[in-house]
Amino acid sequence: MADIFEKLLRNAGPLGQHRERAHGYFSFPKLEGEISSRMKFRGKEMIVWSLNNYLGLANHPEVRKIDADASKEYGLAYPMGARMMSGNSNHHEQLERELATFEEKEDSILMNFGYQGIMSTIDAICGRHDIIVYDAECHACIIDGLRLHTGHRYVYKHNDLEDCEKQLIRATQLIEKQKTGGILLITEGVFGMAGDQGKLKEIAALKSKYEFRLMVDDAHGFGTLGKTGAGAGEAQGCQDQIDLYFSTFAKSMASIGAFVAGDKAIIDFIRYNIRSQIFAKSLPMPIVLGNLKRLDMLRTMPELKDKLWSNALKLQNGLKSRGFGIGKTDSPVTPVYMTGGVEEASAMVVDLRENYHVFASIIIYPVIPKGHIIFRLIPSAAHTDIDIEETLIAFSETKAKLDAGAYKAEAIPDMAEA
Ligand SMILES: Cc1ncc(COP(=O)(O)O)c(C=O)c1O
Repeated sequence: MADIFEKLLRNAGPLGQHRERAHGYFSFPKLEGEISSRMKFRGKEMIVWSLNNYLGLANHPEVRKIDADASKEYGLAYPMGARMMSGNSNHHEQLERELATFEEKEDSILMNFGYQGIMSTIDAICGRHDIIVYDAECHACIIDGLRLHTGHRYVYKHNDLEDCEKQLIRATQLIEKQKTGGILLITEGVFGMAGDQGKLKEIAALKSKYEFRLMVDDAHGFGTLGKTGAGAGEAQGCQDQIDLYFSTFAKSMASIGAFVAGDKAIIDFIRYNIRSQIFAKSLPMPIVLGNLKRLDMLRTMPELKDKLWSNALKLQNGLKSRGFGIGKTDSPVTPVYMTGGVEEASAMVVDLRENYHVFASIIIYPVIPKGHIIFRLIPSAAHTDIDIEETLIAFSETKAKLDAGAYKAEAIPDMAEA
């Protein structure tokens, strides 16, 4: 019999295989200093494009103050225990009410992490006769939620309405045959890799033909889209058609935790059946008070969203006018598509960081097909015109080098921490 650990030592996994050269640089880098558009990386100041600090709240003085004051008053322990047993508070409930009102829903429930929360929500509401229809590019947390689902699941091609309808027909036929069960359709408000919005309005319109409930993961749309910042549903004029609206606090709110909002009776069901919350300690009070403050700022300071969009459009238009392909984004998420091998892409990252002081995340094979490179830039309200201008110049110059073959190499550069 083999030692269960043996295979782990033989194969470190698709990303882990590079760790000896990559650790601390391409993977697990340490950004230091105050969270802003410029931070220190290995002692050098970088223009940072890797943080989902969309509204620039992470280091806002009022946010820093509430975080510090609440930590001083409550520490990180209170309230102890799971919400259901001993970990509830008026502030937790106030945050749930305010989030629900903001999202034009009757109620909401807090979750400690978006990832676990969405998995556990799917697990709580779907039984073995239910069918989940979902977009092929849904986030890993939704895919892992599907793994918990014991019934059927039908995937449709990304944002492809024809295929979506086809899968709804299949699901409807199976439900009719089973004579029991229902359909949950899951998509995203904004797809975090490519930045394109889910076609929520068109999907919601299919409700007139098929019976299903719509759940939307709007991690990247919350705070960034819609007139009030309520997200992709508001932006597309179909918020009332979203049955379960999910967002994390880890992006626009620059915090931690998440929530799901919907009809009171359904949220109450989730409250009493969501295993990741029932069997876990509740969010600490400083997080809850910090999130109440952030939500207040998100609602009352539209200038933050305006600045985010002004920066996003400057960056996106600047890239387009310089000939870069940025795909179909209609959100601040800005992918920059290029072609090249993993080794070349890595060498380009090193040049960008070491010589142009631009820190951007890169997505390469095996996450995307061989020969493709995506730089993913996340603009925020905290970026400046100079940040954008310097970055555009850096991208133009390094792309020219990439095209000229200057980064060709046998292996990825060894940049691991000593
Ligand atoms: C689309 C999407 N859903 C869910 C999550 C998970 O949220 P959390 O970081 O709160 O676990 C993320 C990533 O952070 C995300 O991008």
